[in-house]
Amino acid sequence: MADQPDRRGFLKVATCALGGGLGLVVAAPVLRFVIDPATQTTVTTPSEPIDLGPAERFHGDQPTRVEIVAPMIKDGWTSARDVVLGAAWIQQKGDKLVAFSAVCPHLGCGVGYDGAQFQCPCHDSKFARADGAAQSGPSKRGLDPLDLKVVDGRVKLTWASFKLDQAERELA
Ligand code: FES
Repeated sequence: MADQPDRRGFLKVATCALGGGLGLVVAAPVLRFVIDPATQTTVTTPSEPIDLGPAERFHGDQPTRVEIVAPMIKDGWTSARDVVLGAAWIQQKGDKLVAFSAVCPHLGCGVGYDGAQFQCPCHDSKFARADGAAQSGPSKRGLDPLDLKVVDGRVKLTWASFKLDQAERELA
């Protein structure tokens, strides 16, 4: 009978330890699920190239404007399908295809094509057809080139956004 309090104390401690251990086992995955996205790099644009279809579509003597749609975007806790990222101008240059972002490097309006050169309707910047170089207007640089590859006859374009209204080309 003399050791009864010790046994009770031991049982209390053991019960607490077991309960605490079980609590940790249950809580750890939940905490990880809740906190984990905050520790990941936020992805706002896909790093994977986007398939734009057969390369023949872009052959010819005029540039073609295409909307760039990401099949899937993940951003922290959320994800979305078929997200329009922007638009690009694709044209043949010799036996290659080249792509420019259709986002004006001045303040981000959509750049059009007038049959001879690229031009922005917002503040009238103009860009050379051949290489996208700035010709006139307030834009401090030419159109931003985008990475384009032809793989098995299909155009794969990697989208990128750049900081606006500066001469240096810098990813946004
Ligand atoms: S946004 Fe294109 S010239 Fe200003």
